[in-house]
Amino acid sequence: MPVISFKKNRTPLTVSKGVNLMKALLDGGLPVASSCSGDGVCAKCKIIIVEGMENLSTENETESFLRESKGIPKDQRISCQVQVLDDITVDTTYW
Ligand code: FES
Repeated sequence: MPVISFKKNRTPLTVSKGVNLMKALLDGGLPVASSCSGDGVCAKCKIIIVEGMENLSTENETESFLRESKGIPKDQRISCQVQVLDDITVDTTYW
């Protein structure tokens, strides 16, 4: 089962393969910024991927559109649009 680790001092989360990243973080008790509740509109749920970018699902059309229109850097993913496939390490500016 994939493990989500954190750059800052937090306990890692063990999650099911294929789980939605935003849901996994929220279920783990971490706040995730959002104003669209995961509908793929606001891009506020962006998460910095410190390690394991290759262990996430490929970018879908919604994420590509948001990345382009909102100028999201390549080291960040729109968490409500991403599935966790293997171990990753993540961070945000507000944790
Ligand atoms: S929560 Fe709004 S785009 Fe992800």
